[in-house]
Amino acid sequence: MTEVDTSLEELNRWMLAHHMQGFWTQEIGASRPGEKPETISLQAHTLPPGERTAVRYEATSYAHFVVQASPDATCVSDGQAFPLEAGDLIVNPAWTEHSVVSGGSAPTIWVGAEDIGLLKHLGLQTVDGQTRPAGLSPAVKPDGYFEATQGQMSDASLAGPARRPPGRYAGSETMAQLAALRDGRLGMDQADGILLRFTSPLDGAPTLPTFSCEMQLITSGLRTAAHRHNSTAIYYVFRGEGWTEIAGEGREWSQGDVFEVPPWTWHRHENAGGPDAILFSVDDWPTMVKMGFYRIERSEHTP
Ligand SMILES: [Fe+2]
Repeated sequence: MTEVDTSLEELNRWMLAHHMQGFWTQEIGASRPGEKPETISLQAHTLPPGERTAVRYEATSYAHFVVQASPDATCVSDGQAFPLEAGDLIVNPAWTEHSVVSGGSAPTIWVGAEDIGLLKHLGLQTVDGQTRPAGLSPAVKPDGYFEATQGQMSDASLAGPARRPPGRYAGSETMAQLAALRDGRLGMDQADGILLRFTSPLDGAPTLPTFSCEMQLITSGLRTAAHRHNSTAIYYVFRGEGWTEIAGEGREWSQGDVFEVPPWTWHRHENAGGPDAILFSVDDWPTMVKMGFYRIERSEHTP
């Protein structure tokens, strides 16, 4: 592995050992020497107990995958406070005001995914970086506001066309769905194992317009077939360990690692027989589909 072979737990220990105060972030995600993914990226974030990030209000779409959180940690998104627990996904579509508030008893650690590379390609980087001081975005909406008004039912008083709401996908429910598919012997894809894609309550499409957030179970002993697609995928290993072959080169991974699959690169996954492995990933295939570029090819060879 490359520079991305960094355990978030190690980052957190390092930060505490150096008595760092405030928000700390580490860019990760490049598996090609000296290169980074062009469209989407991941960063590791550690927020000490009792701290709050500045409020982000940007054209980038942003997803938080929670690695660790104290019991009272929240993400305040457009006025609703979403609780944070390990394994949760919080999505904040473009122009959502959002800020993470770490609880008082432990640091909060998350992997943040965003589409800033894509915006820069489009010449929109000038709208990036608008942050507001913490405290200007209080949690004024009741729990469940977005679920009630823009979920399975919609609030008719909301003016204008609906846009994707911010939202929380509870890790406990994600794990239960993966386990149900495994136990029911359902949902097994030749190239991806059991793969769940998070969807927006607005239209059932990917959670964010530009990239998809996904959760994948590589069951014990599974060897997948190879495929390639001209979208970029970045993986974060949430649980377990395994091996992925990318462009003919094998890469071992274990909990806390991040690795990238560049566009149009053959790849396949393997779990040699340890506990089931769980991978969180982001993939810019929704952008490629919308622009008419998307293509996927499966290997004839099945292991
Ligand atoms: Fe793939």
